[in-house]
Amino acid sequence: MSAAVIPLQKAGGKPEPLIAFRRVDLDLGGRPILRGIDLEIARGEFVCVVGPSGCGKTTLLRLLGGLLAPTGGEVSYAGGPVAGPSANVAIVFQDYGKALLPWRNVAGNVSLALEAAGVPRGEREARIAPLLRKVGLDAHAERFPGQLSGGMQQRVQIARCLAQEPTLLLMDEPFGALDAMTRQALQDEVLRIVQASRMTVLFVTHDLEEAIYLGDRVIALRPHPGRVAATFEVDLARPREQLATREAPQFLRLRRALYDFIESAER
Ligand SMILES: Nc1ncnc2c1ncn2[C@@H]1O[C@H](COP(=O)(O)OP(=O)(O)OP(=O)(O)O)[C@@H](O)[C@H]1O
Ligand SMILES: [Mg+2]
Repeated sequence: MSAAVIPLQKAGGKPEPLIAFRRVDLDLGGRPILRGIDLEIARGEFVCVVGPSGCGKTTLLRLLGGLLAPTGGEVSYAGGPVAGPSANVAIVFQDYGKALLPWRNVAGNVSLALEAAGVPRGEREARIAPLLRKVGLDAHAERFPGQLSGGMQQRVQIARCLAQEPTLLLMDEPFGALDAMTRQALQDEVLRIVQASRMTVLFVTHDLEEAIYLGDRVIALRPHPGRVAATFEVDLARPREQLATREAPQFLRLRRALYDFIESAER
């Protein structure tokens, strides 16, 4: 008898999304925060979320990370409802100051993800060193969070999430505390890692150009309550390249469309 074949596609021919929000509502403290969110994300897709402060971007990630449950509708992951945090989902929190253990040094904080995954002690160092090199912290492995700048702390958090080798990576304004050069270097590093490991990514940013540069799709949210206002498909070739991609006519057209949309939404 032949082995069971797990279908990659549903009968309709469309691949089953890794993530699906179906008519999701969320209230907090008696206030409507998100309303009628319908959103599907395919495996391996890199989706960016933009929108004004307070429109519910972090809340959207918390629903996916299993840290909040919807008030109405359903958030599903790999075909089943999200029931709580999962080792397959890593979150780079916006508030990096609270994300690290202050009594563990840089290597120790990255090691947390490997310990949780049961990686033997002898293997951990070999996994941590290249990650610290990728985020530019290899010279700081022995330092403690209190001895690091905000941008360095944020990079420790990113390294820890990458060490987890998640199926789904949620990033909440991960590069907000970085200078422009480090930011661009990390954009490219994350794109390389994500492509090599075929992770699915939901990436929140305030920077419209960053959203286009990284994403396969950009979702714009509207506030009070938070709703999906528009979706922009990004038809730019990969691998992306900082100068060539940002100079490409499609990039400039998308940038114009996104700026125009955000401006008209604010009026
Ligand atoms: N625990 C909570 N209780 C009540 N209201 C909350 C809670 N957490 C968030 N909110 C409200 O939900 C709304 C969305 O917050 P959220 O943090 O998701 O916004 P955001 O889009 O991530 O904003 P920013 O760009 O500033 O990070 C805000 O109006 C906020 O005040
Ligand atoms: Mg936020």
